[in-house]
Amino acid sequence: MRYDAAMKKTPSETAVENDEKQLLGGLTREAFLQAYWQKKPLLVRGAIPGFEGLLSPEELAGLACEDEVQSRLVIHNKGQWILEHGPLDEVRFGKLPERDWTLLVQEVNHHLEEAEALLERFDFIPHARLDDLMVSYAPDGGGVGPHFDSYDVFLLQGQGKRLWRVSQQEDLSLVEGAPLRILSDFQTQQEYLLEAGDMLYLPPHVAHWGIAVGDCMTYSIGFRAPSAQELTTQFLGYLQDRIEVPGMYGDPDLGLQPHPAEIGGSMIERVSEMLDAIRWQQADVTEFLGRYLSEPKAHVVFDPPRTMTLSTFQKRLQTSAIRLDSKSRLLFHGNRFFMNGESVDASEPELATLTELADRRSLPPCAFADMVLVERLHKWYLAGFLRFERT
Ligand code: SIN
Ligand code: CO
Repeated sequence: MRYDAAMKKTPSETAVENDEKQLLGGLTREAFLQAYWQKKPLLVRGAIPGFEGLLSPEELAGLACEDEVQSRLVIHNKGQWILEHGPLDEVRFGKLPERDWTLLVQEVNHHLEEAEALLERFDFIPHARLDDLMVSYAPDGGGVGPHFDSYDVFLLQGQGKRLWRVSQQEDLSLVEGAPLRILSDFQTQQEYLLEAGDMLYLPPHVAHWGIAVGDCMTYSIGFRAPSAQELTTQFLGYLQDRIEVPGMYGDPDLGLQPHPAEIGGSMIERVSEMLDAIRWQQADVTEFLGRYLSEPKAHVVFDPPRTMTLSTFQKRLQTSAIRLDSKSRLLFHGNRFFMNGESVDASEPELATLTELADRRSLPPCAFADMVLVERLHKWYLAGFLRFERT
């Protein structure tokens, strides 16, 4: 093949590609998606070499004590599973047994800036699918028991070791009455001992059981998949506020009914015809999906900054990078952008910048001249959806 200078990669491009491949055990992102994603588990030794985690057990416990953070404590005692929901009291930690318990903190990415860079490594999966980064700490023997999840998860080992037992068994029946979802008959098929930086990818419904071997921390990068029931219910709710159906029920051909209390067949037929006329377009689905998928969960609150005038904001953009707040979700389809449940149409000159902001979650310092864009960013900034990077 003729040497093509245009195809030559820079050393940093090659390094990024190598890191990407290492994360997936030597597979390219495409190969991973094709062979493993939603299909079968993948164990990667040294996915992130030297990964020691993003926070200490004490910092994790500190988060679990905060009101706005979702946390759980799971204790396994004499064959019984005990579940306690956070926020936890600091004194609770002093009263825990020496082993067989675990602390799990959800949405750590909302509270820890360092998590952004970790999640970025998984952006070969669309942002719309990301749920959160959950971090767990467990002393020896701790874990949440044998179970299955309904979402895809990358289980990245932080400090310490965890033994993962995995099973692709069909029997997914659960122990009745347990406070958490425990499989009643877990049959280990594979066993892997993960050390810091190792990672296990599990598709939905693969049974697994992680047991701490000594003190350990696990980082779960979870991807949500709404059920068909949830999507349909939400879409019907969305449609309800927008649908316009002209006309009203009428029965000029009403015949005499033997039972006045009976709902007649012709009435049912007429209403069925009316309902059959409900129509929606792909644009309605796009609009619904964008809003639904970017909508923050009910407990999420944004923290608006001190007010800043438009001209000060514009000047600051020239010297500081701006980034999505860690709780923000910005998605798009075409020129329609969905920021935390609200939608806007981007004008042609804004399109490239907003696309970059959505994809990279940040914009480098720049003297933006387009005032429509600056005003839009300013509005989002004042709502707490964006923040300036610390310099
Ligand atoms: C854990 O970190 O202990 C739980 C992760 C999981 O099994 O989903
Ligand atoms: Co799990």
